[in-house]
Amino acid sequence: MGKRILITGGAGFIGSHLSRELEQAGHFVRILDNFSAQVHGSRPERHDTLAEVQVGDVRNREHVKLALNGIDIVFHFAASVGVGQSMYEVRSYIDNNNLGTATLLQALITEKSPAIERLVVASSMSIYGEGLYVTAEGTVIDKARREVRDLERHDWEPKGPGGLPISPRPTPETKRPELASVYALSKFDQEQMCLMLGAAYKIPTVALRFFNVYGPGQALSNPYTGVMAIFASRILNGHSPVVYEDGLQKRDFVHVSDVARACHLAMQSSQAAGHVINIGSGIQYTILEIAERMARAMMRPTIRPELTGKCRIGDVRHCFADISLARKLLGFEPRITLSDGLRELTDWLSRQRAIDKTKEANAELLSRGLAI
Ligand SMILES: NC(=O)c1ccc[n+]([C@@H]2O[C@H](COP(=O)([O-])OP(=O)(O)OC[C@H]3O[C@@H](n4cnc5c(N)ncnc54)[C@H](O)[C@@H]3O)[C@@H](O)[C@H]2O)c1
Repeated sequence: MGKRILITGGAGFIGSHLSRELEQAGHFVRILDNFSAQVHGSRPERHDTLAEVQVGDVRNREHVKLALNGIDIVFHFAASVGVGQSMYEVRSYIDNNNLGTATLLQALITEKSPAIERLVVASSMSIYGEGLYVTAEGTVIDKARREVRDLERHDWEPKGPGGLPISPRPTPETKRPELASVYALSKFDQEQMCLMLGAAYKIPTVALRFFNVYGPGQALSNPYTGVMAIFASRILNGHSPVVYEDGLQKRDFVHVSDVARACHLAMQSSQAAGHVINIGSGIQYTILEIAERMARAMMRPTIRPELTGKCRIGDVRHCFADISLARKLLGFEPRITLSDGLRELTDWLSRQRAIDKTKEANAELLSRGLAI
């Protein structure tokens, strides 16, 4: 039987895809979204969905109470999403992400009777900081860090004990968090607050740690989030994608339709309750390769990535997902290869216009000493 589902932040990139996935499966979907200008522009387009759209703020108790009326399942996605920006818009990130989550949870535990059947909260790979590494002897290093003096010498790779080389490995959920930005701190607070109160009030709760999500619908004019969207916005405007360090840092890119499916599975799997689960593709690419492949896919092969040799404070060198737990608990298997995903993204991009704000966003970081 169809469920009645609320998605906070449901008008955003991942929320829109999830909303369509759930509608197609026969569920009723309501969206609570404040259509933040940074994501949607000053004149948001009409939202392309069958969902019931409630324009409102997750920090507002009345809006949340109204949004929860008759709801069985909640996906909590509403958040400010930008690692670099969170390092100077501190109050706004903590206000939106932490207070928003606290307001939702307060309503769930004091107003919602009977309790909802499931809460799924969007967390992030950013909470890991550096991913997992091993030494040449196979010793696991789960707190690799980079020193500013090494970064200033363009010595980009984290080192093991005694300065010896270490190699990155897929990062499992058991890797200890190393919070390197206000955004990461707020995402960790969001997931832990949901899991803690979920356990205390018997609300089956799942936290999904998304890796780098990409696909059609990501905000192209938001220079603070989504490396592929940021590169696309540069290339669409005839400019080089701006790549930090030497471009050889590795990430895990997962297609938004795979993420939407993982969310759908997380709402159904009884084994998933109480867990944090990585959602990625399980495959790693360098940022440089992504920039080059995007330029080729967008038929602009002469546009070469611009390597800045600069580094953002708090950026990690390598982090990509171990998705064994998602396979085990959710039966999740990524379906979209990077080649297919890039083809589909390029098709969508050919119908888009983007305002390229990359230079302003990067200048903001440099002027504050947040990029060196
Ligand atoms: N996109 C990624 O690669 C990625 C990776 C890791 C985690 N996440 C997490 O997934 C979730 C969704 O991300 P996304 O990429 O779709 O971001 P997005 O910016 O496209 O969507 C977020 C939505 O939340 C809304 N919103 C923000 N503050 C709100 C508030 N106070 N009240 C109501 N609505 C509010 C925005 O208007 C927007 O529509 C976020 O929680 C994000 O932290 C995303």
